[in-house]
Amino acid sequence: MKLVVLTGAGISAESGIPTFRGQGGLWRNFKPEELATPEAFAKNPKLVWEWYDWRRQLISKAEPNKAHLLLAELEGKLDSFFLITQNVDGLHQKAGSKKVIELHGNIWRVRCLSCRAEYELYEAPLKEIPPRCLYCGGMLRPAVVWFGESLPKKELSEAFELATRCDVFLVIGTSGVVYPAGYLPFVAKEHGARVVEINLDRTPISDMADLVIRERASVGLEQFLEKMLNL
Ligand code: APR
Repeated sequence: MKLVVLTGAGISAESGIPTFRGQGGLWRNFKPEELATPEAFAKNPKLVWEWYDWRRQLISKAEPNKAHLLLAELEGKLDSFFLITQNVDGLHQKAGSKKVIELHGNIWRVRCLSCRAEYELYEAPLKEIPPRCLYCGGMLRPAVVWFGESLPKKELSEAFELATRCDVFLVIGTSGVVYPAGYLPFVAKEHGARVVEINLDRTPISDMADLVIRERASVGLEQFLEKMLNL
């Protein structure tokens, strides 16, 4: 059985990382749509970097939770298992997942606006804001996908390819309102997959899912695995 999983911020909530659209998701009363954009960064790189620095510090202290760990275990158990994430927190990798398709990049990677160098910068808190390029001293930006920017081509085509060829498409902890990631469950459904959603709240995916598990990620995933292993 070919299982493809798509995760969103909800899977990291139990690790203490606020989601984007739930309560507690705002930072200094800014919405992500007001900060995670090229325009916001061009206008005030210091403010945008202060938001990322806050998130990087949170994430540096966060541990993967049971849901991350169960998915890492599943990767080793199933011969056809693929994990696609919208999250940039790297907690899937920290939990031991080897193959992670990161659609929106990774908060620990930075890219230089001058020389285009891209590398990991684990400093948290950042000594200098905005941080400067190791190689040329130019201005760095987070190597994550901002609103209005295109997703990495390879990861995006891989994700859509997987969605068209899976038996079960499991969606965990995403509001499903950001595209193109939000299309993936619908593409899977159109190609005959059974769609399962684990989410605390109702989303646009809930109505078309074959099974909705209205639980937090770690509990819902345990229930799913029990059901799946008895399939
Ligand atoms: N368990 C399961 N689901 C949860 C939990 C939990 N403990 N806590 C919250 N949720 C659900 C919320 O009900 C919501 O549906 O997780 C979802 C989180 O939605 P968002 O905050 O919108 O996060 P996400 O869907 O990942 O956002 C997508 O938007 O801001 C951009 O690029 C950013 O990748 C992000 C994208």
